[in-house]
Amino acid sequence: MPNKTNTKSAELYERAKRVMPGGNTRTTVFRTPHQFYAQRGDGCRITDVDGNVRIDAVGNFTALIHGYGNKRILDAARSQIEVGPCYGMSTESEIRLSELLCERLPSVEQLRYTNSGTEAVMNAIKAARAYTGRSKIAKCEGAYHGTYDPAEVSQDAGPSTWGDIEKPKSVPTAKGTPQGVLDDIVVIPFNNVTVAEKILRAEGHALAAVLVDVMPNRAGLVPARPDFLAMLRRVTREFGALLILDEVITFRLGYNGAQGRFDADPDFTTLGKVIGGGFPIGAIGGRAEVMSVFDPSKGAPAVPHGGTFSANPMSMMCGIAAVEELTPEAFEKLENLGHRFEHGVRQLFQMHGVDGQVTGIGSLRRVHMTNAPLSDYRSTFAAAEGPQRVAALARALFDEGVMIAGNGLMAFSTPMRKDDIDEILSGFDRALKTVAAH
Ligand SMILES: Cc1ncc(COP(=O)(O)O)c(C=O)c1O
Repeated sequence: MPNKTNTKSAELYERAKRVMPGGNTRTTVFRTPHQFYAQRGDGCRITDVDGNVRIDAVGNFTALIHGYGNKRILDAARSQIEVGPCYGMSTESEIRLSELLCERLPSVEQLRYTNSGTEAVMNAIKAARAYTGRSKIAKCEGAYHGTYDPAEVSQDAGPSTWGDIEKPKSVPTAKGTPQGVLDDIVVIPFNNVTVAEKILRAEGHALAAVLVDVMPNRAGLVPARPDFLAMLRRVTREFGALLILDEVITFRLGYNGAQGRFDADPDFTTLGKVIGGGFPIGAIGGRAEVMSVFDPSKGAPAVPHGGTFSANPMSMMCGIAAVEELTPEAFEKLENLGHRFEHGVRQLFQMHGVDGQVTGIGSLRRVHMTNAPLSDYRSTFAAAEGPQRVAALARALFDEGVMIAGNGLMAFSTPMRKDDIDEILSGFDRALKTVAAH
């Protein structure tokens, strides 16, 4: 449990404020009164610059599925850096990682790499537009797909901006988002088959694609209903639009990704996070026919896609090691860790008389401090002062030596054992006491 002061983190933050706006270069890790600065990671533990050790139950926002110091990933990184971190040439490693991913993902025949999930989604959107010759993209309200401006629309909508559920408004996230971007985004309510289908049918002939995450974190980390996914597939096919499945987070749900688990059949899949073994990565995959928009071998491609660090061999080599380490046994272990946590934390909510529930599946979980049923972004948002209470719980957990995301998101990793889950649960036990007292 952390028992030291945060002097060094506070000092570093003072320095940071002089050279970075708000002392911050990544909003996701911003905290008040100051950010915390990491020193090192070991297995599933992270140590900050003041020597506080915490159990890392979110793994750089779900990216570090093998935690810190995985031997195969370390060996891959060391051997690659010895011979060059990147080149202005292709490497065999990009072929090997593609072979591995194509073998696992039923809908993916070919892939291309980017440096982040944001870029993967951006290229999937551009590819869908190029393939269909249409401009509109439908996405679910509240879903996060990275920071490309069309993908960001309505991710932070609120009651004063979101409009009628029968026709959710396109709400900008960044100030200055052009009206043209908003006009091209069709917002649908997640898991609401009737309303979403009506909206999609009204826009059908203008739609290039529907972009969907089968378990969107910000919209509650609630799994998509099978009839919702089936409707998206049916309607997109009927209108000649494409279905983009964003698996940047959810690929970690199973050996065949979320598409295997949810029996989804997308045209494009976007990947990121775990497939880079801790190094920056993103990928766009799909059937050869739709991926041909990127093909430069027959003249200028419909969608030119480069990138100085795209498919850099550090990310490729570490990604190969990370994906190969994701064996069926590793997934079974992660699944069991998720169950143990879910069962334990439910008991704790009851024991402390605190409203609360856990959503998500497998190694991907989110804690909510409400008993109200959650099905989509609006129901998650509406959970009274739930989000503030979850943020308070996350802060209390941090003080008790457990690191989760501020919205309650958690991701378990392969170095964790049952004992580590029990340690997380005892952190919850202590943190819930603090939260219940307020
Ligand atoms: C579902 C989803 N898509 C895309 C992204 C963007 O990925 P990146 O942060 O690598 O740009 C994220 C990031 O959290 C995500 O959760």
